[in-house]
Amino acid sequence: ARIQSYKWKVKYEYKSPDCYEKLVITINGESPGPTIFAEQGNTVVVEVDNLLVTENLAIHWHGIRQIGSPWSDGANGITQCPVQPGEKFVYKFVVDKAGTYIYHAHYGLQRSSGLYGSIHVIPSDGVKEPFSYDREHTLLINDWWHKSSAEQTAGLSSIPFRWVNEPQSLLIQGRGAYNCSLVNNQLNSLGTGSICNTTNPECSPHVIPVVFGKTYRLRIASVTSLSAINFMIEGHNMTIVEADGNYVEPVVVQNLNLYSGETYSVIVKADNDPSRNYWAAVNILGRMPKTPTGTAVFNYYPNHPKKPPLTTPPNGPLWNDTNYALAQSQSLKALKGFNPGPPFSSDRAINMFFTQNKIEGFSRWSINNFSFVLPSTPYLIALKQNLPHTFDPTPPPEKYDLQNYDIHLPPKNPNASYSDSIYRLDFNSTIDIILQNTNMLDPNKSETHPWHLHGHHFWVLGHGIGVFDPVNDPKKYNLVNPVVKNTVPAFPYGWTVIRFRADNPGIWAFHCHVEAHYYLGMGVVFEEGIERVARLPKSIMGCGKSKRLARP
Ligand code: C2O
Ligand code: CU
Repeated sequence: ARIQSYKWKVKYEYKSPDCYEKLVITINGESPGPTIFAEQGNTVVVEVDNLLVTENLAIHWHGIRQIGSPWSDGANGITQCPVQPGEKFVYKFVVDKAGTYIYHAHYGLQRSSGLYGSIHVIPSDGVKEPFSYDREHTLLINDWWHKSSAEQTAGLSSIPFRWVNEPQSLLIQGRGAYNCSLVNNQLNSLGTGSICNTTNPECSPHVIPVVFGKTYRLRIASVTSLSAINFMIEGHNMTIVEADGNYVEPVVVQNLNLYSGETYSVIVKADNDPSRNYWAAVNILGRMPKTPTGTAVFNYYPNHPKKPPLTTPPNGPLWNDTNYALAQSQSLKALKGFNPGPPFSSDRAINMFFTQNKIEGFSRWSINNFSFVLPSTPYLIALKQNLPHTFDPTPPPEKYDLQNYDIHLPPKNPNASYSDSIYRLDFNSTIDIILQNTNMLDPNKSETHPWHLHGHHFWVLGHGIGVFDPVNDPKKYNLVNPVVKNTVPAFPYGWTVIRFRADNPGIWAFHCHVEAHYYLGMGVVFEEGIERVARLPKSIMGCGKSKRLARP
């Protein structure tokens, strides 16, 4: 095992990812940022230099469990104080599991400004993966807005509420194509031409080069702020072999659904007519699409990579076909021999019932009627250093009274409360989380929420539609070969149950990966084994009641 070190300069720059120029957060000049290629067991050290001038920063290594390094998880307000403008911060962690992961900003809505990238962990020398391929390509998928994250944040925390609405574009590997004729009267930042220019090389479509007869591994990940995504390659099937860093029984699909925060590897054989190029296309799933299809070129050698296929880019499946989406999630099973199965029972089951609410006129999201707010002192520091009165010590509820509640109707009483209290888990205990989705404030609306757990991978025991039945549904849990993931969707009006071992000392966020939903309170925090956490680095301190601890 070796140490791999990086130095990243994070700043705002004018960029045109979808041909429309705006301020984008870049890492060493790029968005998506550099891909971290690492070997299992290596230590990754990233020194981040916050050159954003007026904004704090924190970067989360999504899917990396941070065993023994909970202070490097990058969750602002939970595991560290934010990195202030002009300051540097060092993240140091071991990549202990081969697979496809991502990193992204974990402060406010900065992910939607372009701060994200890929982490590829290859198995240690001599370890074979359960599939083979000739070459691999990376595809990071994102949704893209022309408003800044500052405008979006302000809108979400205003009365009246200003929703972010649907994205202007979908990006594949940081490239999209906005219809510039919609804005041809606006000038760019230099005043030298239009703000939107389809000939800008920054927005020429991403190219996936292939040679006829060869086999490719595509590492596909979604870092979307809002959208669920359907990915497809015209005229080609894909075999899903990895999900969130865990091998799965191969599933052949024409369409791959990705919820924000999910990563997949698919195997694709370049076996179609090689005299032309094909579209790789992304479409929105789960929300009525108002965004054009995002495209990349699946480029057969020796066709010119810029030669667009003459066909129209494919549309995805019906956006509101929940049964189709559910079926794909349910088709994923852990590959035999690679993942230890789950314990057959759990020590504690926590119900998480999520609702859209109003608090003092503000629009919020809540879990069991509490809307999460970050404390000014990060929990990891507060608990490890015994700093009193930094958050509400009353444990949050583990149930919600569903007797008089109809999940198919908007809440009768939309009021909820703010809370910064956390769930404290017995170290090494087995925890079940029952996610229950409901109707939103608008009638006849319930949407998919992708839930992501920091510090762990979990078993997905089951998904269903309707109200979870605590007597009969557990009988249907898959305890034989449930897929292991770190992000999982809860479908409209549906439930999802996950199981995990609380075996990683630290403080871990569990939240909806829709950036605006987490910002509006759709998250919780777990503590486990805090007494086993080693001495905290001073570099994470300096905010709230940890100010004096940061002094040398
Ligand atoms: Cu990828 Cu807490 O998020
Ligand atoms: Cu959500």
